Amino acid sequence: MSTIEALVRDHRVVVCVGSGGVGKTTTAASIALWGAMQGRRVVVLTIDPARRLADSLGVGVLGDEPRTVEPAVFTRLGMKVPGSLAAMMLDQKGAWDRLVARHAPSEEVRARILDNRFYRSLSGTFAGSYEYMAIEQLCLLDESGGYDLIVLDTPPTKRAMDFFEAPERIREFLDRRVVRWFVTPYMSQGWSAAKAMNRTVGFLFRRLEEATGVSALAEISDFFSAMSGMFDAFAARTQTMHALLRASSTAFLLVTGPEEQALTETEFFSRRLREMKMSLDAVVFNRVHREFAADPELFPGGTVSRGDEALIEDVLASAGDLDGIDTAWLARNFVDYQLLARGEALRMEQFRSGLSRRLPFVTVPNFESDLHDVAGLVGMHSALFGRGAARRPRRSGSSRPPAKRASSASSGGRRPAK
Ligand SMILES: Nc1ncnc2c1ncn2[C@@H]1O[C@H](COP(=O)(O)OP(=O)(O)OP(=O)(O)O)[C@@H](O)[C@H]1O
Ligand SMILES: [Mg+2]
Repeated sequence: MSTIEALVRDHRVVVCVGSGGVGKTTTAASIALWGAMQGRRVVVLTIDPARRLADSLGVGVLGDEPRTVEPAVFTRLGMKVPGSLAAMMLDQKGAWDRLVARHAPSEEVRARILDNRFYRSLSGTFAGSYEYMAIEQLCLLDESGGYDLIVLDTPPTKRAMDFFEAPERIREFLDRRVVRWFVTPYMSQGWSAAKAMNRTVGFLFRRLEEATGVSALAEISDFFSAMSGMFDAFAARTQTMHALLRASSTAFLLVTGPEEQALTETEFFSRRLREMKMSLDAVVFNRVHREFAADPELFPGGTVSRGDEALIEDVLASAGDLDGIDTAWLARNFVDYQLLARGEALRMEQFRSGLSRRLPFVTVPNFESDLHDVAGLVGMHSALFGRGAARRPRRSGSSRPPAKRASSASSGGRRPAK
């Protein structure tokens, strides 16, 4: 099975995309940690990480600068990390404010925009705003020159494509032609005048009002007139964003689950990515249940099926002292798990047959517990990076017993969930 080791090694920017809840944040953090273990200067930009993961990476507090994970965190775990790992959590509102501050032509314009109620609502709720800021932050980290590997986690979009369409959507929204409508003289006369003058404008206002909850026309108008000096800067920024997303040093790694719905979304996503001239570089199937290789002498065909419950009960009964154990329940549970794992394997196989043969893919098992600390992130490495991965470290000061090493090379250091 190919791994994504080469992909991470050969790119400067790795973007983890995928639909909600599939494991993007965890995968991004795990890849970033691996990069640091390989001696690189790494930063991971995480989006709304689970509290414990944020704490263990030291990004519990919002900030506009990446924070370096203390080397002591690794030393305590007995890990050798010759590179460095910095982590940052996207602060969407702060990022918008900084963007405005950077491009505003004067202090007065800056203050006017930041105080504007419409702006405050827009920067928090406008569709695509979160995604736009993630890409903007990526550009800043790239331009800082301080890192040789930047791993970008992406926001939990309903559709993975929202991420890529965000720069265009925001640019269109701030397009001069649209904005002209908002700063025309009849604006100051209020709603009824605007509706009477132009039906399209009336319609647009209603939509804006619904989306932002701000109904004061004057404020909307004022926002656009204050912004009008900044459109060139925004248009130029969109170009920079496009260039970075399409650069050969940027890789897209799709994280997906083995469920029907996740895979259907993923198919659509990889097609759209191609249409937008961006290439998908690897796929991670996360939280996969592994099928047990059945003894062909016992199970003809080497697979377990629903009708095998009685046979499994017999095998269990002959295994020795099982007094008080409900063997029927055990057998049914075992068959259920096998059927679940087989279903996933078939769906993944079908999905892969539609992808390029050369596209690296890896499967990461469904671990028995959430991956919320550094040890958990290392636990993903053997699945993500194959034999190149280091051993799982010991837990720092943990009272939990160490997890058993998994038997398969690609199943990670943690014990996959039963
Ligand atoms: N292979 C795995 N085994 C067990 N738990 C996992 C695995 N991968 C991720 N998790 C857990 O699943 C949860 C969701 O993962 P994560 O936050 O990385 O998803 P996400 O795609 O970033 O979600 P969102 O779209 O909401 O941002 C987390 O609690 C994480 O610890
Ligand atoms: Mg996430």
